Amino acid sequence: MAPEKEESVEEFIDWFLTEEEAEAPLERAPTVMKKICMLGDPAVGKTSLVARFVFSVFDDKYIETIGAKVVKRTMAVERVATVQRCRLKLIIWDIAGQRTLDFIKPTYYRDAEGALIVTDLTRRETLSNAPRWCKSFRDVCGEVPVVLIVNKSDLRAHAQYTESEARAVAQELGARLFMSSAKSGENVESAFSSLGRELVSGVLRSQRAPSLEKRGC
Ligand code: GTP
Repeated sequence: MAPEKEESVEEFIDWFLTEEEAEAPLERAPTVMKKICMLGDPAVGKTSLVARFVFSVFDDKYIETIGAKVVKRTMAVERVATVQRCRLKLIIWDIAGQRTLDFIKPTYYRDAEGALIVTDLTRRETLSNAPRWCKSFRDVCGEVPVVLIVNKSDLRAHAQYTESEARAVAQELGARLFMSSAKSGENVESAFSSLGRELVSGVLRSQRAPSLEKRGC
């Protein structure tokens, strides 16, 4: 489905890197690390989405004091017009187990620069709660980019709300919307890469463009 905020999508392309590629030098490309959080009601599929998306485990130990799992995946983003690149290490924090909004510690949010708010297509209340998740996150982190994922799109026959209702919530949050399924894989990478692009678009726009000669033009 078409994401919200179409205006800058064509300005960038991105691709995910293998673990080896992630460690090799990428010419003229700074490496940027960004912490992002998985948010949403219990059992919406946060861990399943991360498990689907991530191939390389950064630290899968249960962090007792915080109660979160941290994993990473690296992508490259290129600004098409100037061929400027940036390597982005997404450090993904996933709350471990059945945490509701009232039990989230500020430590979980601290220093995060973006979030994926996940709802379950088969439970309306998970969509109703999305703005509360967003507010509690932005109260700590400020107006950082957020993506709304309506998960379990493979269960459309049991949907309790429509895509346009979800789109209205996404617009309210200033978020792109993805109808995804951790089970089928639909739109999982797209959701993460959309957030990744948004996170580094400022870095790439502020870099000086290489000269035409250097770019081989
Ligand atoms: P908490 O850790 O309790 O907050 O849950 P969570 O949000 O991490 O959800 P989790 O990934 O544990 O998934 C909850 C349940 O939903 C599990 O039984 C998953 O198998 C199921 N599930 C997750 N994603 C999908 C999906 O896309 N489609 C279907 N059909 N089931 C899913």
